Amino acid sequence: MDIAIIGAGYVGLVTGGGLASLGHRVRLGEVNAERVELLRNGGIPIYEQGLPDLLSHATGRGLLSFHTSNKEAVHGAGFVFLALPTPEGEDGRADLEYVHAVVDELANEVGEDTIFVVKSTVPPGTVASLRKRLADLGSSARIVSHPEFLREGKAVDDFLEPDRIVVGAWEEADAKAVVDLYRSLDAPVVMTDPTSAEMIKYASNAYLAARLTFVNTLSNVCEAVGADILDVVRGLGMDHRVGPHFLQPGPGYGGSCFPKDTQALIAVAQDAGYDFELLRAVIEADEEQRRRVADKVRQAAGGGLRGRRVGMWGVAFKAGTDDVRESPAVRIASLLQADGAEVVAYDPEATTDLLTMAPDPIAAVTEADVLLIATEWPEFLTVDMSQVSKVMRGHRVVDARNILDPKKVRAVGLDYWGLGRPGA
Ligand SMILES: NC(=O)c1ccc[n+]([C@@H]2O[C@H](COP(=O)([O-])OP(=O)(O)OC[C@H]3O[C@@H](n4cnc5c(N)ncnc54)[C@H](O)[C@@H]3O)[C@@H](O)[C@H]2O)c1
Repeated sequence: MDIAIIGAGYVGLVTGGGLASLGHRVRLGEVNAERVELLRNGGIPIYEQGLPDLLSHATGRGLLSFHTSNKEAVHGAGFVFLALPTPEGEDGRADLEYVHAVVDELANEVGEDTIFVVKSTVPPGTVASLRKRLADLGSSARIVSHPEFLREGKAVDDFLEPDRIVVGAWEEADAKAVVDLYRSLDAPVVMTDPTSAEMIKYASNAYLAARLTFVNTLSNVCEAVGADILDVVRGLGMDHRVGPHFLQPGPGYGGSCFPKDTQALIAVAQDAGYDFELLRAVIEADEEQRRRVADKVRQAAGGGLRGRRVGMWGVAFKAGTDDVRESPAVRIASLLQADGAEVVAYDPEATTDLLTMAPDPIAAVTEADVLLIATEWPEFLTVDMSQVSKVMRGHRVVDARNILDPKKVRAVGLDYWGLGRPGA
């Protein structure tokens, strides 16, 4: 079955490579001509484990191609997946400008048997309004909701072994046609109406953001009462109603999804006359968590940051990705800079123009007053801490991911401050 995917970003590339690996012929339409050129030459514009192999196998088998013209990409396609940005608008609402533009562009380029498949995260009710938009444009193409749940850093695995495949459609035949694309995966399927499918995506992200924020705030209580958050979440996660996953305290959530999707859900609820107070509190507590980490660094530097240097390990919003969108690391660094600190950062894959980037972890901490660990890259566990101790000007390590072993750090003469841990 021929499939067009519009948008060759994180979702479009993984979905495109994944569907091609299942034997479908996929054409990716992408407005960024440089990105298309790079992909045609075998390059990959993002860091995502397993993606280079997935794409090179697919292109090698002639099942994946890249196009600067969306119209060319959809020609003869049975499905048109929309993997377009839906960024946060000024008022917190999802900005649907990209989705609208592409629907308008392609409405009359496809036949009536073609199904538009909305992969982008869009507010409940959007697919219904897009169906009306298509009809108003004189198109009889069909449209379904098929939200994406991939995690950056594990996106290829998530495609091949999804927890669930969700499709929201008015016609059962349309939902089945989409589910059938994945028949070789043997994944659990949820078929529902489009608005409920759209809501499942927001519910997942809002729940996960709330869960992380709960653990982060719990770590603050642990710190106050002298408990160890790592033991607490180990015991908590053994309750089968809770489960062990996604309980790691840190500097707050980030990335291209949780921040914008929580804001969008608040706006959706508000427009429907409901004040989602709980989720507003989650966002406020998440902001506070970043300020707390910045405060910890300030204390570690002796109470003030003017003229101080902070060596920061990690810039990406989490390990396994080069994505710095809404990264807590970058947000904390800008709080430190605002207080007069110089921040020198190292990350194995990510970079940002906002900070001075160092070529390796030791260069980042040379002459630093404080080391801040902001992203949980496994590489940081292998750095020789006695070397760190030698090159630093100060002696304090603020581990905002709790990844280092406090005993080993203290053994080389450094002072270890984690989150929610005794002596933190
Ligand atoms: N990144 C994730 O982890 C993730 C996970 C689940 C859902 N989502 C959702 O999926 C959607 C896409 O996210 P992403 O991270 O892949 O975004 P992205 O920014 O990485 O990719 C979007 C791509 O669309 C392209 N594009 C924009 N306008 C276009 C047009 N008119 N024609 C063709 N291409 C165009 C952009 O150039 C970009 O390459 C968003 O709604 C996001 O919320 C993302």
